[in-house]
Amino acid sequence: MIKAVRGTRDLLPPDTALWNFVEEAAREVFRLYNFQEIRTPIIEDLSLFQRSVGEETDIVSKEMFSWPDVSGGVIKSGLKSIGQLDEPAKPGLDGIRRPQTLALRPEATAGIVRAYIEHDLNRTGLLHKLYMMGPMFRRERPQKGRYRQFFQIDAEVIGPPTAGSESPSVDAELLEMLAQYLERIGITGWTLELNSVGCANDRPKYNEALRAALAKDLDKMCEDCRRRAITNPLRVLDCKVPEDQPIIDKLPRMLDYLDESCRQHFQAVQDLLAAVSVPYVINARLVRGLDYYTRTAFEFTHGALGAQNAILGGGRYDGLSESLGGPKAPGIGFAIGEDRLVLALSKTAEEFSAPPDAYLAPLGAGMDREAAQLARELRKQGIVVELGDESFRLKKSLETASKIGARHAVIIGENEVKADAFAVKNLATGEQVTVPRAELASRIQERRP
Ligand code: HAM
Repeated sequence: MIKAVRGTRDLLPPDTALWNFVEEAAREVFRLYNFQEIRTPIIEDLSLFQRSVGEETDIVSKEMFSWPDVSGGVIKSGLKSIGQLDEPAKPGLDGIRRPQTLALRPEATAGIVRAYIEHDLNRTGLLHKLYMMGPMFRRERPQKGRYRQFFQIDAEVIGPPTAGSESPSVDAELLEMLAQYLERIGITGWTLELNSVGCANDRPKYNEALRAALAKDLDKMCEDCRRRAITNPLRVLDCKVPEDQPIIDKLPRMLDYLDESCRQHFQAVQDLLAAVSVPYVINARLVRGLDYYTRTAFEFTHGALGAQNAILGGGRYDGLSESLGGPKAPGIGFAIGEDRLVLALSKTAEEFSAPPDAYLAPLGAGMDREAAQLARELRKQGIVVELGDESFRLKKSLETASKIGARHAVIIGENEVKADAFAVKNLATGEQVTVPRAELASRIQERRP
């Protein structure tokens, strides 16, 4: 028996109704804020994530699904040839052609910014407000709320500074939109945790302070922290090793190292949030697990989720486009973890169940044909129809109709066809009436709850 791969899962009905509900609500809310949909590929060049999310992050250093793009498949160790390249890659500095390494996307922002640069969206001089929904892949240890294939609802605002992309009002609008969205889908009890992680200007000073503070305790810390203290000290704040936490708690706070413009920006975001009554708490240790962030960083957490309590996370990435070879295009965005969002919903799948309006029960040989025609007519008029089979006895048809929750059974026998009028049984009341073909749709619709 072949089972779903570890960390992946099947989403079955009726649960899928919950997924559709949160996705449709997101589309509606995004529309109100003038966002438009973008769809980027699930596979990208691995180097895109190395250069954006960052090589020192857990996501890139430990959790990527990646492979060299060779056709013929197998890479035999010890052999010089590693298969045929689909397209000859450019030779490296050493003159050797190596296959491109592909990766399943672990997140959406890098691909969206790549697309922004590739299609020169900057040329419009406007803000681009883009959203995307889809599966992401990280080879994490699976547990409740954490999967290897999971789904994100992602939104990004990006554009040249002249379009206002650096403005704190963009940050506040995005956060207010999230609060509005969560309210619309009935999620209460969330906490917005907010921080500023500074910018290229003040980060070096902070990194110095971190390195200095870490120096005396480093030998007591985990291997990752010891390496990161040198390569990328901010990542130390992201360490999850319990023994390291007391040391990390005492480290200097980025908020105390913000330069004047970052400090003002952060203050303006907070003022605007207060103006639109979106509550938040400052979490000075919030650094997020991706390297591209600058200034505003945030997460919405929810108490009902246990250890994996972040429903969503995001922040600014003012230098990301340039670090990928693009124009200056500051941006900010977020990704909602849809799997966790659905877990935090207080609604049940049953609330969204939409049983058929009518079950058509063809009775006897030749009636499938009549039922098929009638089903087509009714569906054209917006009636949800489930079709029975002429080989079923009436009892079986009525039982099936009840089991699937149909509100009416329409009986189609030879006599009905001749009279062009059909027996319609209300399955809740048991009441049965004969209805001429032309009135069937309106009769069935009029009884809709
Ligand atoms: P992230 O914090 O890595 O940010 O992921 C966002 C959300 O995705 C998390 O808060 C969580 O709800 C969900 N998530 C992450 N990993 C898993 C997993 N293994 N299983 C289930 N859910 C998961 C980003 O991905 C950034 N790209 C967000 C962003 C957009 N920043 C700016 N723009």
